[in-house]
Amino acid sequence: MDFRFSREFLLGAATSAYQVEGAVREDGRGASIWDVFSHEQGHVWNECTGDEACDHYHRYLDDVQLITHLGLNAYRFSIAWPRIFPEKGVLNQKGLAFYRGLLDALKERNITPVVTLYHWDLPQWIEDEGGWRSRDTIDYFVDYAETVFRELGDSVPLWITHNEPWCVAFLGHATGEHAPGRKNWHEAVAVAHHVLLSHGRTVNLYRRMGLKGQIGITLNLTPIEPGTQEAQDVTFAQIADGNSNRWFLDALFRGAYSEDMTALYAQFFGALDFIQKEDLQEIAAPIDFLGVNYYTRNRVVFDPTSDLFGLRALEPVGEVTAMGWEVAPESLYQLLCRVRDEYTRLPIYITENGAAYDDQLNAGEVHDELRIQYLRGHIEAASRFVQDGGLLKGYFVWSLLDNFEWAFGYGKRFGLVYVDYNTQVRTVKDSGKWLRDMISAESITKAAD
Ligand code: FCB
Repeated sequence: MDFRFSREFLLGAATSAYQVEGAVREDGRGASIWDVFSHEQGHVWNECTGDEACDHYHRYLDDVQLITHLGLNAYRFSIAWPRIFPEKGVLNQKGLAFYRGLLDALKERNITPVVTLYHWDLPQWIEDEGGWRSRDTIDYFVDYAETVFRELGDSVPLWITHNEPWCVAFLGHATGEHAPGRKNWHEAVAVAHHVLLSHGRTVNLYRRMGLKGQIGITLNLTPIEPGTQEAQDVTFAQIADGNSNRWFLDALFRGAYSEDMTALYAQFFGALDFIQKEDLQEIAAPIDFLGVNYYTRNRVVFDPTSDLFGLRALEPVGEVTAMGWEVAPESLYQLLCRVRDEYTRLPIYITENGAAYDDQLNAGEVHDELRIQYLRGHIEAASRFVQDGGLLKGYFVWSLLDNFEWAFGYGKRFGLVYVDYNTQVRTVKDSGKWLRDMISAESITKAAD
């Protein structure tokens, strides 16, 4: 197979702090909302917590070596805000030192770091003051970003302000599946707004600081298709698209929330009185790239018995992953085209793509043929977009390691590398070997300039 990406194309793997680091009480780290949430009963499968996770905090040098071993030229990770500001007004130098060490190790091995500021681990002390429901959290975020930019900014070429604001807002505050586990849709829309505003202000701050890198945001975009061509289903697919995708894309690239969704949210959840006059202009501060996380597509229909605007998701058709997510590589291609055609000609990075399967470790090997197929299909789709002239500059597999999969705990494995949580021994899965072989055969990143 011949994928066509340029020499500069970033081919990497991604993780996030709470999902891999462990060491939650070490070197002055404070608690995050995920520490509290996972320790409360009933939120996470099997009562798993991130207390130890992959122990990446202590094993990061080995993990960086694994990245090299896999032949990857980039690594996306996130900074744990509660390591940097464990308490109000307290800057923790040891937290910064950890990320300095990690950045140095990556540099030594010529691995490009892509760093996310917020991958869901809000310091609990900020949650206690109202979390993302409060506008004050925007100021806390900008202060945190300023510190991190000042201390680490010279070593990071690509910054991502937020990972998947939709999840922060709706899983965290409407369905309650994620920390902080609230169930209030009006709050959730306010949270989405505050997260976006904190993004825009951070972009403006980054420009003012005159650093040399680039900055963007990562959205989880989910193509939505109507279950049938009936007019009602088509309308409801537009609503689902409005909630999952347009709400964020419109704000970032058009400086306005979509009118249909604004009206709908106000009708169902009450006045959107948290939006102030200049906010949208700030949210739309010009960025350098868009990060896209893609896993699956959804099909929806109108169902008058559903309490979510009358919207119901259909069971997936065809092949699904262990998450129950449909394998739909063609939808990735269509999604990339849509973003380019309707929203932006800026460079795009696929900052997450991957699949969970029920991997078994047997005699030192993990035969994850289904993951290989999944990755092959999606990398092909990405490559086709590039061949069509699309400006895709990177692709990151979720994930480097099996890790703490939020509400699914350690029950879902997404890694290129298997982790035995009893011993912390890492084993490269067949998918990792497949990727490495393809890269070393130069059929991937270096195919065509
Ligand atoms: C994304 C998250 C990531 C991981 C994958 C499976 O929504 O950004 O942390 O959990 O899903």
